Amino acid sequence: MRHTLVALLLALPSAATAQVRLVPASPVPPAPLAAPAAPMIPGAPLAMPAPIQAPVVALSTLEGQEKLGDAEYQPAVGQAGKDVIWVPTPESLVKALLTAAKVTKADYVVDLGSGDGRFPIAAARDFGARAHGIDYNGDMVALARRNAERAGVRTRVTFQRGDIFEADFSSATVVTLYLLPNLNLKLRPTILAMKPGTRVVSHAFDMGDWEPDETIRTDEATGYLWIVPAQIAGRWAFEVGNARFAATLAQTYQKLSASGGPITGGRVRGTEVILTFADGRELTGEVSENGLVGRGWTATRIGG
Ligand SMILES: C[S@@+](CC[C@H](N)C(=O)[O-])C[C@H]1O[C@@H](n2cnc3c(N)ncnc32)[C@H](O)[C@@H]1O
Repeated sequence: MRHTLVALLLALPSAATAQVRLVPASPVPPAPLAAPAAPMIPGAPLAMPAPIQAPVVALSTLEGQEKLGDAEYQPAVGQAGKDVIWVPTPESLVKALLTAAKVTKADYVVDLGSGDGRFPIAAARDFGARAHGIDYNGDMVALARRNAERAGVRTRVTFQRGDIFEADFSSATVVTLYLLPNLNLKLRPTILAMKPGTRVVSHAFDMGDWEPDETIRTDEATGYLWIVPAQIAGRWAFEVGNARFAATLAQTYQKLSASGGPITGGRVRGTEVILTFADGRELTGEVSENGLVGRGWTATRIGG
């Protein structure tokens, strides 16, 4: 059923969809979890927009497993949202993604499109973080606040009613997403401009040609982790032991290629840099204010 819900997210992206129609449960189509891995064609329409002619089915009853909402408000799985419908992330994947992001009490976790608040609440309750959720639906925001109260984390979790494309979430150290591929792509430039080392996790959907640093699978669903890479493209003067050489680094997201010196490539994971030589040796170090620094080596920028 989860897979069907992911298909629904792809099929029903707009607020115009006020009522959910679902093809009868059996047979369940092959897992559309493959969708995130499918190549993105910019501007192409989302998959599966075909009219669905089945009787109206309350998804919340099909879902059946989780208790949704409270006495004051009972959201329906699949209900319209501004840019994407509401479908909750399974708690098992919430935990797995926050674990993959290595959330600690030092983090500030922001969920973009926070629904009933499960990502921020779990971040505070299970990982000790401060957390924040942004959702366009005021009823969901109020429900999330009550859920945080019930979970005993109200002092560390805040929610705001707002549009994720207008809100400022630049102070987040971890961003959580369950949106749509095109919405992830729209957020991507903002996310890439965040502080290096910021972790981003997304349920089900990818970031186009920015490959994830990790893929996280649970029995119920799949998610991805990216770590915002420091930008180190340019020309560098290296001192490695007694050796001195210059090299030019080119960067595509977290991947490095190199020319003009013995280094052939490498990768950036937040502020951590790993450079590789043709013979397979590696240099590991950190991006600092003064350049690149590792044990027994440094590099100073000499060109943009
Ligand atoms: C698929 S649900 C994910 C909920 C939650 N993050 C989770 O994983 O359980 C997407 C949520 O985004 C909200 N949403 C849709 N468009 C939005 C927008 N432009 N700004 C803020 N929230 C939005 C919807 O109301 C819905 O609650």
